[in-house]
Order: sequence, then C-alpha cells, then structure tokens
Amino acid sequence: MLLYKDIIKEENLDLRKKSAPVELPISKDDLETLSKLDEYLWNSYDDEMLEKYNIRPGVGLAAPQIDVLKQMFVIIAYDEEGEFHHYCVINPKIISHSEELTYLEGGEGCLSVDREVKGLVHRPKKIKALVHLYDFETNELTKTTLKLEGYIAVVFQHEYDHLYGKLFFDRINKENPFFIPENSHPVILKKEDSSDSDKKN
Ligand code: NI
Repeated sequence: MLLYKDIIKEENLDLRKKSAPVELPISKDDLETLSKLDEYLWNSYDDEMLEKYNIRPGVGLAAPQIDVLKQMFVIIAYDEEGEFHHYCVINPKIISHSEELTYLEGGEGCLSVDREVKGLVHRPKKIKALVHLYDFETNELTKTTLKLEGYIAVVFQHEYDHLYGKLFFDRINKENPFFIPENSHPVILKKEDSSDSDKKN
C-alpha cells in the first residue's frame, strides 16, 4: 500500500522529467502502478485509513509522483455541483481548451509540495482530452474523449502537468501572484449544506 512518504517531493528532480507513454495493451506492472495510485486516493476518503496511516488526502495523483515516469494518473473528486468523478487515466492528450480561464480561490496544492505556496493558478475553464480510461471493476480499457470543466478540469490539468515535469507553482505569476486576468473567474464550490437547504420537515 502506498503511503504519503512514498510520494516523491519537489526536491526530487525526477518530478521535472517528462513521462513516457504507456505501452498498450497495458502490462501487469503498469496496471499495478495505476492501482496503487487509485488505492491511495480511495484511502483519502476513509477517515480511519487517514488516521491509521497518517495519509495526506488528495484528489489526484500521477505516476511520476511515485517515481514511475509513465503517462498515468488517477482522479477521485467531487466537482462543484457535488458530482463524483473517478478516472484512471492513461496516455491523455488535451486536444482543445477554452479561452476562458478559471482558478481555485485558495490556490492549488500538491502531494509532492510539502509547503504552502501563495498565489493563483489560472487554467482553461474547459478542456477536451483524448484518454484511455481503465476500469478496475470490469478490467476494461476504453478509449474515449473527456469533456471537463471547472474544478475537475483544474484537477485534470494539474495531473496532466505532472506528466510533463511541471508543478503548479510554475504557473503562478511571479511579479504578482494574485493577479487575475480579465478572462479568468473562480471555481465556485457549492456550499456543503446547500443541497439540504430545500428539504423541509
Ligand atoms: Ni500535484
């Protein structure tokens, strides 16, 4: 089982290398890597596991973060509408994106960056990506096009950057870390209790 200490940190220059495409059909070794990433993120949603193994929770984790330089990552996250997203991604290619940008008001974080970095990361609000998705329940690999926007598009692009040796703070404006371009608007996260607000007794 993968632990937080197994995730390499920004000092390790392997994080700055480009990852190679995964050879298909996928090998047992590559599947094992993917399954470890997946397991770590599932554990992130399990309070007992978090405490027991001192896990720092995450919504995305890429293979290079465990020093495997292959184009794979996993996302397990709820979007701003409360929709659940789970993708085991192999060989992604972003084929188009919106001009409109978005950002997380609290900035981004990364399991490989063990410090707080101040500043905003602006990314295309909408993306279209060609991907292979692996499903551990059916053991099937599917080639598909993902259209993502808002929070999940941000997470996807953050993980995608890892495959090219980029870290989120590379994208923070150095002179003015909190600069907001005219075409950028924040991701609005839905308040947790809003879905219950219209429930009446
Ligand atoms: Ni990261």
